[in-house]
Amino acid sequence: MIRPLHPDDVPALDRMLARCSPESIWLRFRGRPNGFPSSYLQRCLTGEQPALVDEQEGEVVAMGSIGPVPGEPGVAEMAVLVEDRWQHLGLGRRLMLALLVQAGPRVVRMHMVRSSLSAHLATTLRVLAVERHGSETVLDVDARSAVEHWSERRRDRGERGDVLVQPG
Ligand SMILES: CC(C)(COP(=O)(O)OP(=O)(O)OC[C@H]1O[C@@H](n2cnc3c(N)ncnc32)[C@H](O)[C@@H]1OP(=O)(O)O)[C@@H](O)C(=O)NCCC(=O)NCCS
Repeated sequence: MIRPLHPDDVPALDRMLARCSPESIWLRFRGRPNGFPSSYLQRCLTGEQPALVDEQEGEVVAMGSIGPVPGEPGVAEMAVLVEDRWQHLGLGRRLMLALLVQAGPRVVRMHMVRSSLSAHLATTLRVLAVERHGSETVLDVDARSAVEHWSERRRDRGERGDVLVQPG
């Protein structure tokens, strides 16, 4: 079930991070934090950077956030982490779709290190700009194309709709 992040989720996020491989943590944070950075969590919990979690079997197994980019109206930066044993099952796509539908940006910016993933997104979504900074690729994607593609993939796969609890 996808739902908004709640302050009580912080211990569950720590448990989730402890179950993640060092590689996944590196791909998400470009570092090896022992917990979600507190300044980031604070922004998520105040709504400055709206965040959603995916709960499976009573545990938080994925977390994603989306937030405005200062000085760039209509652009939002999105970041997602799905714990390893739940990867490649469509959870990341569902979470990203829910974040985009909730935030409604025109352009979504994603920072990626894994070249296979950035290449896949670049071929399946409408990319407006690409920048490379060392090993990192920054993709600016037309948000509507992402919503359409990910909604279609969900339909193709016959995935059922999640209960998305509205904030507040
Ligand atoms: C990247 C990540 C969020 C994707 O979540 P996921 O649940 O594993 O991905 P999904 O199963 O929902 O797949 C989503 C799409 O990405 C593609 N994909 C996923 N991982 C991929 C990879 N390593 N290489 C190429 N394509 C990949 C899938 O084929 C799918 O494509 P489609 O929508 O066209 O069918 C997850 O693997 C993760 O948390 N990785 C570590 C952190 C990270 O890299 N975060 C991204 C930067 S913030």
